[in-house]
Amino acid sequence: MSLIQLIELPIFGDGRGDLVSIEASKHIPFDIKRVYCLFNLADHPRGMHSHRQLQQLAFCVHGSCRFILDNGTERDEVTLSRPTQGLLIGNLIWREMHDFSDDCVIMVLASEHYDESDYIRDYTTFQDVIRGTAG
Ligand code: TYD
Repeated sequence: MSLIQLIELPIFGDGRGDLVSIEASKHIPFDIKRVYCLFNLADHPRGMHSHRQLQQLAFCVHGSCRFILDNGTERDEVTLSRPTQGLLIGNLIWREMHDFSDDCVIMVLASEHYDESDYIRDYTTFQDVIRGTAG
C-alpha cells in the first residue's frame, strides 16, 4: 500500500476567484495546534527527518515540490502542486522535500506545538526506532 495519503478539498470558485477551506476535525484527522509555511526555498532539500509523535498535513499552496515519504521499509513520492490537495504525514514517517519551483510556498498544519525533542534527524536512528531497538 502506498504511503501517499492525499486529502482533496473542494474549491468554492466563482467569477471573483477561488477559495479553499480546511476545517479541523472535519477534513483533518487531528486537532491543529500549529501552522507554518516554507517559502523563498533554495535548491536544497528540506525535511530529512521524522517525528516521534507529530502528525502533519502539507499543502503546496503555490508552485510545486516533490515529497518523499519513507516508513523505514518502503519509500513513495508525490509531487504537490495544488492548494486543494494535502499530503498526510503520520508520525514515524521520514520525509524529504525536493525540486521546489521558484514560486513554491508550502503550508503545513501540525498536530503539536514545535518541539525539537520530537524530531529524529538521523536516518539510522529513525530505522532503529522503527525496529524498536532505540527510544
Ligand atoms: P525544520 O523543521 O528543520 O525545517 P525543514 O523540515 O523544513 O527542513 O526547521 C528549521 C528551523 O526552524 C529549525 O531551527 C527549527 C525552526 N522551527 C521552529 O522554530 N518552529 C517550527 O514550527 C518549525 C517547523 C521549525
